[in-house]
Amino acid sequence: MTNISFTFSITRFCLTAILIFFAPSTAKARNLTQPFKRVYAFGDAETDTGNTKSSTGPTIFRFASDHPYGKTFFGHPTNRYSDGRLMIDFVAENLSLPYLAPYLDEKADKSHGVNFAFAGSTALTRNFFVNNNLTLDITTVSLQTQLSWFDEFLESERCKSSPSMLGCKAEYINDALFWVGEIGANDYAYSYRSSVPTKTIQELATNDVIDFLQALLNKGAKYILVQGLHPTGCLTLSMAVTPANDRDNMGCAATVNNRIYAHNTILQAKLNELREKFPQAIIVYADYWTAFQHVLQNPGEYGFDERFKACCGSDGGTYNFNILFPCGSPPSTACDNPSKYINWDGGHLTEAMYKVMARLFITGAFCDPPWSHLISKKMQSE
Ligand SMILES: *[C@@H]1O[C@H](CO)[C@@H](O)[C@H](O)[C@H]1NC(C)=O
Ligand SMILES: *[C@@H]1O[C@H](CO)[C@@H](O)[C@H](O)[C@H]1NC(C)=O
Ligand SMILES: *[C@@H]1O[C@H](CO)[C@@H](O)[C@H](O)[C@H]1NC(C)=O
Repeated sequence: MTNISFTFSITRFCLTAILIFFAPSTAKARNLTQPFKRVYAFGDAETDTGNTKSSTGPTIFRFASDHPYGKTFFGHPTNRYSDGRLMIDFVAENLSLPYLAPYLDEKADKSHGVNFAFAGSTALTRNFFVNNNLTLDITTVSLQTQLSWFDEFLESERCKSSPSMLGCKAEYINDALFWVGEIGANDYAYSYRSSVPTKTIQELATNDVIDFLQALLNKGAKYILVQGLHPTGCLTLSMAVTPANDRDNMGCAATVNNRIYAHNTILQAKLNELREKFPQAIIVYADYWTAFQHVLQNPGEYGFDERFKACCGSDGGTYNFNILFPCGSPPSTACDNPSKYINWDGGHLTEAMYKVMARLFITGAFCDPPWSHLISKKMQSE
């Protein structure tokens, strides 16, 4: 009798335990291949999947809406500044989500997230550049603009007819991944050789990135990935316009790279402060600099023959880059094998390089904390 009742209660205990163990997953129908239902992306041309048309983007790359942009993957131009997919596209693939809809495309399906990134964007607001007479070739769109687009999207579109603004925001913010792509590289490019001290840009630009992140965190963002800047002194454009004796240990433009490196260092210190302030959030730093450097130092391992020469451009030579006749302009031509090139058009990378970078972030040791930590924290929360 005692035995039977003991067995019974053990069984009941186990059943209850099993039910508790499984109940949350069945209730929320969690899908292991799709940890996030929504992704919001921000950044510059490296993340822009179509917000910029060539007429509104940086004038050097004014042919980015034309052939041969997009030729490798899409077969036609998509307003991406590459021959194919960008990092964020590979990330979407890995998360089993459709490619993110550009915010400015009114007809696009935005149910799985939105891309607010805009080519030419800066971390600093336009006022900074206007006040310093640095307005040549500068878009009006800053990170602040992208944040206001995000607010508009949620408050004016997505949550407008929702009975509870708070509940709606929770669904659209707490559970989403925020991918903050490269931002700040243009700030240095626009002020290069100006009288504005580099330290000023470093201090203000990293502050603007942190203010932006803090605004997202205050709205309830819990999963954020922030990319550092890659060594932009290794871009064809930087190499072509700097003297041959201005080189660092990677063989790239040293004056440009030194500024970018310092920016990343300052940014990481400020991210640490932010993590202390928002311990409930996961803030991943994607070390774009080190991942890029790793590939530059081991190009063959990733199938690259050309580290510095642009695939698409004019003039051939060491760099195949002429600022007056950029990729897409009538005299330019594109190489037959972009996957052997790191650089696509002088200022942006090939699909092949973006694919390698996305893979290194997802599987490699270049994210802190690792990408897998972000994913498992998200899974545990369900
Ligand atoms: C995403 O990347 C992880 C890590 O490499 C891999 O295990 C997984 O299969 C990928 N998922 C998809 C859908 O590609
Ligand atoms: C999980 O999501 C993927 C991508 O949306 C889908 O193909 C798959 O059928 C889903 N699996 C389940 C069990 O819902
Ligand atoms: C910007 O240009 C105006 C007009 O030439 C000049 O008065 C002003 O001092 C300049 N500002 C800076 C910060 O160089």
